[in-house]
Amino acid sequence: MHRRLFALALAAALCGTALAGTAATSASAATSVTVDCRRVKCVALTFDDGPVADTVRLLRILKDHNVQVTFYLVGKNVQSHPSTVRSAALAGHQVGNHSWDHAKLTGLSAAKVRSQLSRTDAAIKLATGKKPTTFRAPYGAHNATVRTAAARPLVHWSVDTLDWKYRDTARIIRTVKAETRPGDIVLLHDIHKTTVDAVPGIIQGLKARGFHFVTVDQLFAPDRLPSGRVTYHNRGAYRP
Ligand code: NI
Repeated sequence: MHRRLFALALAAALCGTALAGTAATSASAATSVTVDCRRVKCVALTFDDGPVADTVRLLRILKDHNVQVTFYLVGKNVQSHPSTVRSAALAGHQVGNHSWDHAKLTGLSAAKVRSQLSRTDAAIKLATGKKPTTFRAPYGAHNATVRTAAARPLVHWSVDTLDWKYRDTARIIRTVKAETRPGDIVLLHDIHKTTVDAVPGIIQGLKARGFHFVTVDQLFAPDRLPSGRVTYHNRGAYRP
């Protein structure tokens, strides 16, 4: 009886662990088996500053196209939209830390920078069950204090769509299609409607050029990103 109870408890514990630990990563794990960025053209689309209400629409578009991306989320927005963050993780998207309230971190003390990161880590962990493994500094602004406090890789970008500035869907699509090379990381902001509107066109345009869509982790696999250093792209990986 006791043994049977123990076996049940163990099975439940293992099952619980498996669900909590792999639900968010199973989709990306499945993709990483089939996509080798050393042999095929890869691009990582990244969406910053959310989540906002419209992120739900973006998730639907990405699901319709079977595309996984990486989100760099602002902690206070995670706190407001935890179920959106959980849905994103469950759909196989990667979730990264983008500070608590999008402060310019180079003007803050080490303690305040650490707090910006740890509060956001906690909010994301509460929503997804996982602490984010990468960080993107707001405005791309970093110094030694920020890099040390991050205690993980800083992932910035190599294709800047300036979507926040122009708010022009056709222009965003054109920029991404024209500028993206294998290994690139594309900077987008789903807080702007014009950007979410551009996503189907971006996907279509890059697919036509033979690109595969991967998360940041997949883009750098099998290598590990260096902690406390800024990475902008993985253009060197592609050697067909
Ligand atoms: Ni930002």
